[in-house]
Amino acid sequence: MEVNNSDGDGGSTETPVTNGMTTVSHHYFGDSNGFDDAVSIKIIESMKEEYGLFVWPCSVILAEYVWQQRSRFTGISVVELGAGTSLPGLVAAKVGADVILTEDSNRLEVLDNMRRVCELNNVKCEVMGLTWGVWDESIFSLQPKVILGADVLYDSSAFDNLFATVKFLLENSPGSVFITSYHNRSGHHLIEFLMVKWRLKCVKLLDGFSFLPSWKASGLSGNIQLVEIGLSDMGKNEQAF
Ligand SMILES: C[S@@+](CC[C@H](N)C(=O)[O-])C[C@H]1O[C@@H](n2cnc3c(N)ncnc32)[C@H](O)[C@@H]1O
Repeated sequence: MEVNNSDGDGGSTETPVTNGMTTVSHHYFGDSNGFDDAVSIKIIESMKEEYGLFVWPCSVILAEYVWQQRSRFTGISVVELGAGTSLPGLVAAKVGADVILTEDSNRLEVLDNMRRVCELNNVKCEVMGLTWGVWDESIFSLQPKVILGADVLYDSSAFDNLFATVKFLLENSPGSVFITSYHNRSGHHLIEFLMVKWRLKCVKLLDGFSFLPSWKASGLSGNIQLVEIGLSDMGKNEQAF
């Protein structure tokens, strides 16, 4: 995981709150023409920068993408995997998606923080334990049009479980896509390998900094990519959802 600590997560300001171990960061989403329909999200983060209790740079990039693509999200069902502090899912909820935020079922502290963050931002998302590669009953009813995942491709030993879950959700919801942002450390080899192995198709591949406003980009570092993935036999009409 790479993070530029000197500037926080980029595009955020941090306000200390009471117990000294947490901060509340503020994240703004708006167009350059006056922020008329802007959205502001507050995230409770841990100073410990733990996985799931910190807004990772990939999350800032995926959240910005959701914001810029907001017309796609209105009224659709969205599931965020490994949501942690949940910034992309919260933006999706703010622009009118029906959002289920999920996180490793064993990480109760993170799941509790997700509920607190939903309350803080006055959004009604469902918060659910969903461990990749584990088939609890609740997963069978999920039919998201979009699956989101920020910085979930960081531990190669978890890739099979993650992609088993992603593939299940894509198959359970025809025409759906998985949109993920990740640190690109291998050129495009990793994504190519995963697409072949899981019989998936890369629908769109972007440099994460190509659409990020410069005032957000200046606080982030690394080579972050964003990819949209669908089933390899997805019909042309289904890709547009
Ligand atoms: C690097 S953090 C990213 C968190 C958040 N998406 C972000 O970008 O700020 C990876 C997240 O994946 C979650 N995670 C790791 N393994 C998982 C698993 N097997 N099942 C579900 N979530 C998992 C972690 O708890 C953590 O929240």
